[in-house]
Amino acid sequence: AAAGAPASDLADLRVAVSTGGTREPIDPVRYLGNRSSGKQGVAVALAAADRGAYVHLVAAHVEGTVLDRALHHPRIAVERALTAGEMDAAMRAAAGEADVVVMAAAVADFSVREVSDVKIRKEDGTLTLDLIENPDILAGLVRDRRPGQTLVGFAAETAADETELRERGIRKRARKGVDLLAVNRVGWTQGFESGENAVLFVDASDEVTARASGTKSAVADALWDAVLRLR
Ligand code: CTP
Ligand code: CA
Repeated sequence: AAAGAPASDLADLRVAVSTGGTREPIDPVRYLGNRSSGKQGVAVALAAADRGAYVHLVAAHVEGTVLDRALHHPRIAVERALTAGEMDAAMRAAAGEADVVVMAAAVADFSVREVSDVKIRKEDGTLTLDLIENPDILAGLVRDRRPGQTLVGFAAETAADETELRERGIRKRARKGVDLLAVNRVGWTQGFESGENAVLFVDASDEVTARASGTKSAVADALWDAVLRLR
């Protein structure tokens, strides 16, 4: 929380947060995945709960022990959703009872059209995967938004510089129709598997209204400060 802010400034707020990376099955032993660790989304859930909110945390694949503190927090209920399809169903249900929804999960944009029941063999020499686009969960939540509900998205972008990052963020915020978008820069060596993060916050004013960098917990607190300014 900001210096001097009461630790209970989110008291009784009902929050739904998604985190982690979905894994789309190819066959019984393989999947399409991404490098999301789940740390930032879990930090968002913990920060809300520590500030008094009731949190429904929907977790896809997360690294190692990232969920541990959340699993033992008295104000956090953890649910698992490993694929984009499972995440879609879980987040629709969670959003039905939430004042604020934060989609921090790295949802796969595509899944395999026909998942093989048997392990695919390499004998054929080549493999072509037929991919179909997954539902845009956040777009669905925006469409079915409850009155007074605040919707927050995350965007991990590769960008040459700060200006490009900002422009991408502003465009994506408008396209997604969310109240707030947290934008962070990623690259081969940046933004993943790290304890630290740096984000820009963009809201419906189409401006960068705040920036935060440091630990993922500091970034999470800045996100809740930005949400409170919008409510
Ligand atoms: N998201 C979602 N459902 C998807 C894909 C993304 O709910 N099928 C959410 C993410 O959780 C995130 C936000 O949308 O909060 C932005 O995700 P991002 O991947 O940056 O945007 P996309 O719309 O998928 O656009 P692209 O990947 O092409 O940049
Ligand atoms: Ca995407």
